[in-house]
Amino acid sequence: MTRLTPDMIKDVPEDKIDLDTRLMQAAGKTVKGIALEAAGLPEDTDLSGFKVAVVPITSGLGIISGFSASVDAIVKRLGMDSHVTQGTDVNGFTEAVREGADIIMMADDNMFIAYNVREMRETDNSWGTARGYAVALKNAAGGLEGKKVLVIGAGMVGSWAVRFLMDMGADVYVTDIVYEKAERLSQYGAKPLRDVSKAISENTLLLNAAPFIIPGEIIAEGSIFSSPGVPHYFDQVGRSRAKAIIHDPLEIGAAVMAVNSAGYSIKKE
Ligand SMILES: NC(=O)c1ccc[n+]([C@@H]2O[C@H](COP(=O)([O-])OP(=O)(O)OC[C@H]3O[C@@H](n4cnc5c(N)ncnc54)[C@H](O)[C@@H]3O)[C@@H](O)[C@H]2O)c1
Repeated sequence: MTRLTPDMIKDVPEDKIDLDTRLMQAAGKTVKGIALEAAGLPEDTDLSGFKVAVVPITSGLGIISGFSASVDAIVKRLGMDSHVTQGTDVNGFTEAVREGADIIMMADDNMFIAYNVREMRETDNSWGTARGYAVALKNAAGGLEGKKVLVIGAGMVGSWAVRFLMDMGADVYVTDIVYEKAERLSQYGAKPLRDVSKAISENTLLLNAAPFIIPGEIIAEGSIFSSPGVPHYFDQVGRSRAKAIIHDPLEIGAAVMAVNSAGYSIKKE
């Protein structure tokens, strides 16, 4: 997981245009709707019975200012009962367990997980982000069965995205500046493409899982980008050519993690 900076999350979850509104326009679903679909739960699932504790972690490069508060706000928007623990690290974890938290969310420089205490199962951010953005792309495209989709970036998020898109019936292509990484994903049925720019210019359904600012001039008219990659920036040409660009620096991935984590308990009931 790439470490976020406070600047990247300063507007989470209150962006200029609310994320739910942007997602409704692009994909016809809210964050919660996408997260429920990603977790395989019905649209009317009540999540209010879940107690979530967000534990700030100080190790490595330390606490990202605003991160725990942002995760807390995201989880509350899903209708869950959430708070940030007073203690940090092991203290915070212990506090969460003693308070009877069902789900504990915490991140260091490398991992961000939602841990379901009752079921002793974790959902990590790469999985949640890939799944959320794959579901968003599927909805924005009106289904992916038999359609060509390009995954840009064959790292942690891209590798999961390839598998989810394959499961959705897409004809999946993958590209990476390190071609060998894309090639490795052929084990899941994805077709590797060597020339990143050419691949982008020849596809209109794209999941961008790379820290790549894509020049607008290589974007095909009518493209739909499901784009978790940060830094996130599309120039004027790119924005005018793209039919839809789905992005936020944290909320979709974190929401999928929390809802999927709750799903472990719901599916057992
Ligand atoms: N929006 C969110 O909620 C969210 C959550 C997790 C990760 N991210 C972002 O998603 C991206 C992927 O995350 P990750 O954990 O898989 O990272 P990663 O480092 O594991 O993978 C990134 C991959 O992109 C490739 N790459 C880099 N520049 C490229 C370029 N110009 N063209 C093609 N490929 C290129 C790298 O070789 C690497 O394989 C990162 O930008 C990360 O910050 C966003």
